[in-house]
Amino acid sequence: MGEHTFLSGDSTWWRQAVIYQIYPRSFSDANGDGIGDLRGIINKLDYLKGLHIDGVWLSPFYPSELADGGYDVADYRNVDPRIGTLEEFDEMVEKFHAAGIRIFIDIVPNHSSDQHVWFQEALKSPKGSAARARYLFFDGLGENGELPPSDLNSHFGPNGWTRITEPDGTPGQWYMHLFAKEQPDFNWDNQEVRDDFLYTLRFWSDRGVDGFRIDVAHALAKDLSGKMPGYREWGPESIALDGSDPIFDRNEVHEIYKTWRKVFNEYDPPRVAVAESGAPAARRPLYASAEELGQAFNFDLMSANWNRKDYKKIIARNLKASKSDGSSSTWVLSNHDTIRHTARYGLPKDTNWDAWYVGGFKPAVNYQKGFARARGAIMLMLALPGSTYIYQGEELGLPEVLDIPLDQIQDPSFLRNPGKGRSRDGCRVPLPWSLTGSSFGFGSGGAHLPQPADWGSYSVEAQDHTTWSFLNLYREALWRRRQLQTSEDLKWVKSSKKLLHFARPNGWHSVTNFSDKPVKLPKGEVLQTSAPLVNGKLGAYSTAWLFIHP
Ligand code: BGC
Repeated sequence: MGEHTFLSGDSTWWRQAVIYQIYPRSFSDANGDGIGDLRGIINKLDYLKGLHIDGVWLSPFYPSELADGGYDVADYRNVDPRIGTLEEFDEMVEKFHAAGIRIFIDIVPNHSSDQHVWFQEALKSPKGSAARARYLFFDGLGENGELPPSDLNSHFGPNGWTRITEPDGTPGQWYMHLFAKEQPDFNWDNQEVRDDFLYTLRFWSDRGVDGFRIDVAHALAKDLSGKMPGYREWGPESIALDGSDPIFDRNEVHEIYKTWRKVFNEYDPPRVAVAESGAPAARRPLYASAEELGQAFNFDLMSANWNRKDYKKIIARNLKASKSDGSSSTWVLSNHDTIRHTARYGLPKDTNWDAWYVGGFKPAVNYQKGFARARGAIMLMLALPGSTYIYQGEELGLPEVLDIPLDQIQDPSFLRNPGKGRSRDGCRVPLPWSLTGSSFGFGSGGAHLPQPADWGSYSVEAQDHTTWSFLNLYREALWRRRQLQTSEDLKWVKSSKKLLHFARPNGWHSVTNFSDKPVKLPKGEVLQTSAPLVNGKLGAYSTAWLFIHP
């Protein structure tokens, strides 16, 4: 493993970092089994280097039965044999560090897979045993316990409880799962659970991992001692602001992260973390504080309309919040759980894109708009102070795949919500690397989700040497940002109602045209634009970076 000297020393590197999210199963497949792998990631190191990113975040690569794309973890300290080995993981860390790229991994602490040894042991052990106490097992209601302990729903469907068969073959207790039934929730009151996660954090930190993305960070601590929580709408609006919700964002969850912080600080530089927390925005600073995880995702831009006012409000609010807790803002346009923003920006305002992506939208996505806005949005976002998370394939301008045949859909949120038509598979289709060939260069063994026939036209090969391609826009903007991103301050500049204009203290200005007509640019040296200027004016939906002497 060795010392990772190239990158050690700077303990604030994460504050303005650009992190590229890799969804390993869909990135690059070196062994031709149709599933992306670590060797595939290692093989693409030069490509990643050429993007001028600071780090990569790998979604789960752990052994998993894939009931939820790997977020059902069967062994937290290993690599799925289909994805690679621990030795390959070490090789990846070493090579990436030598290239100046940090590694984040995903920690999934709210639930394990039902294939985890602990859950299997719980199934074989009697009611009341220590093995059952690591999860949330309860007796059912009704004469023979045949009814679930409550009408709690899960994120992936109507039932948040599943009944087990006891070792003697009789119908038995019920266990809680906020997600799929293959994802039993841990009992975070259990000391063994707590200790095991500390062990896991050290295991990966010792291997050189620089940071952790914490899945469903607000759900770990639960108080099930009173009336059993029942049906609820999911989302921050339904969570009490004083930490008293029985399931989400309890005050006790913050105690857990304080113990994690102690582990992070055992390392040099301290390991960092970012919370994926669905807690109300007012409570986000707790997760992001230096005593806890250090950063929390702000997904506000991911659901914002293409609208100047909304953007300005979101940016101002989040910069203020991160000042208050000493963290730095995080910015995200897309990830593995949401419709790609090229599609989102091509839908009419306020479309409920969360409810129906399978089979497409009516009216259909207007990609001409979607692409132009996506290009403008990335340049706007990269000009903001704080750190940016980019999702694989957005640098190719990939559209959302909306026509995956129903019998090939993998996402449990689709399978468990019949008729709702929501699937996250459309943003998880394996990347196109080449114009033609088997799975467009993803691998020699096909792709685990079907790629559209025109996927090659979005490929790296197609865009590599093309002026104005998405890929070259990202490369150039990321390279420039690296030179320009020096301070964490931002000042709004007064402008026409169509433009959003802000400046950084070093004279770096970002101007975005939210309207559908070209607009005159302020005077200054044009450094880069997201689309060619139109008769010297900033085109519809475009962003320009300017240098204006401060
Ligand atoms: C992850 C999802 C996953 C869920 C359950 C989310 O926050 O990003 O992909 O389905 O947690 O682990």
